[in-house]
Amino acid sequence: MAKGKKTVYFCQNCGYESAKWMGQCPGCREWNTFVEETVSPFSLGKTVKKNTEIPKPVGLEEISLTEDSRKSSRIEELDRVLGGGIVQGSLVLVGGDPGIGKSTLLLQMCRHLADQKVEVLYISGEESLRQIKMRAMRIGNFDGHLKLLCETNLGNIRELIERKKPEVVIIDSIQTMYDEEISSAPGSVSQVRESTNVLMQLAKGLGVTIFIVGHVTKEGNVAGPRVLEHMVDTVLYFEGERHATYRILRAVKNRFGSTNEIGVFEMRNDGLQEVKNPSEFLLEGKPEGSSGSVVACSMEGTRPILIEVQALVCQSNLGIPRRTAAGIDFNRVNLLMAVLEKRAGLHLGVCDAYVNIAGGIKMNEPAVDLGICLAIASSYRDWVIDDRLLAFGEVGLSGEVRAVSMAEQRVQEAKKLGFEKVILPRVCQKFADKVKGIEKIYVGTVKEAIGYIAGRS
Ligand code: TYD
Ligand code: MG
Repeated sequence: MAKGKKTVYFCQNCGYESAKWMGQCPGCREWNTFVEETVSPFSLGKTVKKNTEIPKPVGLEEISLTEDSRKSSRIEELDRVLGGGIVQGSLVLVGGDPGIGKSTLLLQMCRHLADQKVEVLYISGEESLRQIKMRAMRIGNFDGHLKLLCETNLGNIRELIERKKPEVVIIDSIQTMYDEEISSAPGSVSQVRESTNVLMQLAKGLGVTIFIVGHVTKEGNVAGPRVLEHMVDTVLYFEGERHATYRILRAVKNRFGSTNEIGVFEMRNDGLQEVKNPSEFLLEGKPEGSSGSVVACSMEGTRPILIEVQALVCQSNLGIPRRTAAGIDFNRVNLLMAVLEKRAGLHLGVCDAYVNIAGGIKMNEPAVDLGICLAIASSYRDWVIDDRLLAFGEVGLSGEVRAVSMAEQRVQEAKKLGFEKVILPRVCQKFADKVKGIEKIYVGTVKEAIGYIAGRS
């Protein structure tokens, strides 16, 4: 081996570095993800050496922020997740499972940008020009000019960007790119890191906006996007169920906006379509007149989303009752069942329970708690809950229903979708009362909420 080079083991999932091979990664607890890679100790020095001049600090007041430092992608859902548009000179990582629609989304964005006369360069290391053209034809008409390139050598890409200075560059995908000076294979942790490093310097130095596609991989022989999450400005994850047609774009990190926003899309034959009203979409097919189903409300960023919580509770035949949760945290469901047992007198200890958010969407907001509790109680007692009733509120360990943020917007959304009654925390009364034309039932405890549905079923 050449002098000055050494090998280390990297976890391909999270980038954890170790001098020796390990079966389980101490960083992310994944098994069998360590791969040996050669690193040269001077790889960092190389990039620093180029700037021989001494850097000059700038005063804060000297930096000008022009109004148009954000561009619209003309895809509203994408703009919102990005925090109000594409920021000039930012580095955005778009992660997701293979085949989820990352290339399609970015190509659609390129189309709208090209229409606005923005210079866009789409670099693909995965598909041939013909394949991209075929995809573009499915999406629709391209009026503006879009420049494409099939290339995986980062040195060439860097030179091209430095010479042509396009405004927006797409790198599809980072796992196919390689730097000649690094001996490990494309997709390994050191390649992915070094490539991102080069792209970051280009973005910051030239003010080019760069979108990086990163595949989430389960096998562990290709580095996942988590390795570079900390290096980029914005991390977006594109997720969805394989069998469902909708896709959710979620911001996990955003230096230019909030991270709670989600964008909802539907994968059609002619590309991704925006879903402007996700609640309607998610409540489609809700069963009528069946127990164990209730509509809850979760705030995703600035947007309230109504979802159906389903529960099935039945007598267990096993020593330890079986419980599952889909779309919500399993431990949260266990906790809420304990609260129901202790504070509302439901004997759930001997019951199997299956709790599910319909549509395969994942929700983590505590405001869904009350919905989960009511769905469980409804299934346990076999009460049918009114279809036009919505419930939200956080449930505490003493069985109290606690305040949640933005109660007014939630009630407003319920009214807009034709709901007639809302069960909500009593402490939210002064906000919720501002919305007229919908019946509000204020509750202080879960027991009260269950008492209300008991009287009406
Ligand atoms: P793609 O964008 O290639 O996924 P990724 O880049 O994340 O790997 O999406 C490919 C999938 O989307 C593929 O299964 C075909 C489907 N698709 C449609 O259903 N409609 C379309 O208009 C397009 C372009 C793709
Ligand atoms: Mg792709």
